[in-house]
This record gives sequence, structure tokens and C-alpha cells, in this order.
Amino acid sequence: MPWSRKPWSRQLPEGGWAAQSVLITGASGGIGQALVDELAGAGARLLITGRRREALDALAARHPGRVTVMAADLTRAEERRRMVEQALEAGCTMLINAAGVNRVGLFESSSDDEIEALITLNLTSTLQLTRALLPRLLAAEHGWVINLGSTFGTIGYPGQAGYCATKFALRGFTQALRRELADTRVHVLHVAPRATRTGMNAPEIEAMNQALGNAMDAPQRVAGLVRRAIEAGREETQLGGPERLFARLNALLPGVVDRALRRQLPTIRRFITKPRGDTP
Ligand SMILES: NC(=O)c1ccc[n+]([C@@H]2O[C@H](COP(=O)([O-])OP(=O)(O)OC[C@H]3O[C@@H](n4cnc5c(N)ncnc54)[C@H](OP(=O)(O)O)[C@@H]3O)[C@@H](O)[C@H]2O)c1
Repeated sequence: MPWSRKPWSRQLPEGGWAAQSVLITGASGGIGQALVDELAGAGARLLITGRRREALDALAARHPGRVTVMAADLTRAEERRRMVEQALEAGCTMLINAAGVNRVGLFESSSDDEIEALITLNLTSTLQLTRALLPRLLAAEHGWVINLGSTFGTIGYPGQAGYCATKFALRGFTQALRRELADTRVHVLHVAPRATRTGMNAPEIEAMNQALGNAMDAPQRVAGLVRRAIEAGREETQLGGPERLFARLNALLPGVVDRALRRQLPTIRRFITKPRGDTP
């Protein structure tokens, strides 16, 4: 395999954020909203998407003139096509894939529909959107694809088997695409947040994290770290010191992690088998 270094820097070039037109999926969510505030504040132009128009409009109102709203369901081909059209019109240079769903619970109790919904949004539609935008990103002076993964894209975790499957796959996709585009000016980054306080985590999951001593970040902190990862051109970022260590340990000595999680299993089961909204 011929090895060549990209002759250009992976860091944000001259002009910085003011020169970027960014499509953010999942912009109405906890991390997405914080990212919009962070990047619009830094001077980027943004096309923000999600299904809930009201949430998107309220967000856009905080950044007059910088943000265009497009309410769309990413899993619907026609709406995704319109999203791509608008991104082309806006001269998109960066795609941030932040839309995602989770389903916490015992795998045996998940339905076919739930499994399909996880894979369709977190993986299939995200890959389809990325592919549809690639020609535009390749034509730009510099282009970026930023995929929001998860600690659970590296560590298989009880109660999140379906979600882990999608986030492991997203990490593999990111690595392969980065290598495929290594001699182009498209930079492909993967940022893996640890548990974050957003609507994705129901109160019982926050309570479980507290009982297990798992730290949870504020979405604003995650957004700041995503921005810094992009500015530095850091290809792989795992947020959180203990999570970084755990991820390495999981790769090198999975048996050690197996035993640690086996000890946590009764606590995890206690929280994830409660119906949503119940106080554990
Ligand atoms: N929160 C965490 O603990 C955590 C940890 C690690 C990684 N992550 C990852 O970070 C990303 C953002 O998560 P978050 O915590 O901000 O989640 P969130 O608050 O639940 O937001 C999820 C976002 O996805 C959008 N979405 C869901 N279904 C959609 C669909 N069919 N079409 C278009 N958009 C759709 C939602 O928009 P609408 O509802 O308006 O459609 C919302 O904007 C996700 O990829 C997640 O997996 C989260």
C-alpha cells in the first residue's frame, strides 16, 4: 500500500469558522443545540436539522442571520434528499452527524421495531446522508465529516446492546472512510462523548450512572470539546479520562472489563428493568 502524507494540514484553515458552512443533524437535541450555540458563536454559518421545528426555530432565533432551519426526518429518503439540496445551496463544507437514538433495556425485551429504528437512524440514514454530501465536500477546498459516536462504540455495555452495535459500526465506518479519503482534502473525525445530560438519558439512567459512579457531562462541555477536536484536526477523540483508560483496557484486556462489568450487572439490571419514569 503506498503511504503518502496529506500535504495540507488537517487543522481548520485560514478564515476559521467564519469560512465554514455546517450541516448539523440532531440540532434540536441536547448536544446538537449546544453545538449550534458553540459554532454559531465562533462565526460559522449553519444549516440545522431535526424533526421538531419549534425547537429548531427557537435555537435559530438566538443566532440571527447565521442559522437556517430545516425540519426533516432523516430516515425518510425524500426528506433526506431535500436536506442535501439545501446543504448544496448553502455551500456546505462540513457535516456533523449528531442525530441519534438510544434504547436502554434488556436486549431480550427489545422489539423488532426498536432494533430497526436504532440501526436506521444511527447507521443507515447517517451513512446515506454522508454519501450524498461527499461529492460536495470533495469539491470544497477543505471538507469535514464529523461523526458523533459514543463510549459505547468502543465498550460493549449491558443494557445497550443495540445501541452499541450501531456505535461500534459508526466508528468502523469513520475509520474506513477516513482511510479511503486519505489522499483527499476531506477530513473524517470521530468524537465519542461519554454519558451526557440530555433528553437521551431518562431520569433512571441518570440515577443508574450516579449509583455506578459514572460521570455525566453537560452538553455545553461536549460541544466545546467537539469544537476543539475539529480545530485541532484530531481524528479520534474519546471524552473523559476514565472512559479513555477503560476503552484502552477493553481493547487490550477485555477480560478485565468483563469482570468489572459483571460486578456492576446487578445494579445495571435494577435500573434498566424499571419502566420508564419510575424512581428506582
Ligand atoms: N446523551 C448521551 O449520553 C450521549 C453519549 C454519547 C454519545 N451521544 C450521541 O450524541 C448524539 C446526540 O445525542 P443527544 O444526547 O444530543 O441526544 P438527544 O438530546 O436525544 O437528541 C437526539 C437528536 O436526534 C434527532 N433525531 C432523532 N430521530 C430523528 C429522525 N428520525 N430524523 C431526524 N432527526 C432525528 C432529534 O431531533 P428530533 O427529535 O427533533 O427529531 C435530536 O435532535 C447522538 O448521536 C448520541 O448517540 C449521546
